Amino acid sequence: MFGPTLRGQQVLLGQPCRDEAPTYLRWLADPEVTRFLPMRHPPSLPMEEEWLETMARSERDVVWTVRREEQLVGVVGLHLIDWLNRNCIQGVMIGERTVWHSGIASEAVSLTLGYAFLDLGLEKVKGYVALPNEASLKMAIRCGYKQAGILRREWFRDGQWIDRWIGEVLRDEWLATFRSSP
Ligand SMILES: CC(C)(COP(=O)(O)OP(=O)(O)OC[C@H]1O[C@@H](n2cnc3c(N)ncnc32)[C@H](O)[C@@H]1OP(=O)(O)O)[C@@H](O)C(=O)NCCC(=O)NCCS
Repeated sequence: MFGPTLRGQQVLLGQPCRDEAPTYLRWLADPEVTRFLPMRHPPSLPMEEEWLETMARSERDVVWTVRREEQLVGVVGLHLIDWLNRNCIQGVMIGERTVWHSGIASEAVSLTLGYAFLDLGLEKVKGYVALPNEASLKMAIRCGYKQAGILRREWFRDGQWIDRWIGEVLRDEWLATFRSSP
């Protein structure tokens, strides 16, 4: 599924379209962007178009584009939705490096958490962070994630083993504390 339009103070979450696939490919070819992502090798254009089609049809994923002042800057999603146990895994990529550190990911993730809890009725959202990714960890905690565990030596990156942090946000905790932030 693609997500419905969601408006924040500085970001607009909307629906991906096929014409944007070359922009996603540019991001996925940038090693600085993919450094802490599972996907380190860029796909082909047909593969990326197929991924968009798969996401549009999926009943276990909700995907949005992230725009700031009309500019496409990233994608955010709720993935592997388990409707029986009412949880999912969050993903976010702000591909335009020029807009990093301005609160865009925090706002996009917060909007999608609101959608997960208030519209989809989920009980928990999970997120993984490769531990050297300080910006991602800071952003996750700021949005309401709490540590659930650490997977040690989970990935081999830049010649060394790195740990991955698993965080989770529970619906009632988020409603009590984070609903109107950041
Ligand atoms: C990680 C990522 C999502 C962060 O996006 P962003 O829009 O820059 O994030 P935000 O500005 O909302 O928040 C980042 C926080 O980390 C801080 N930060 C940024 N770079 C940092 C760094 N190198 N070291 C420490 N803190 C850093 C920011 O100041 C901000 O903190 P604040 O809220 O206290 O000001 C973005 O860099 C990205 O998409 N990277 C590539 C893909 C990726 O790694 N995705 C995450 C997978 S878990």
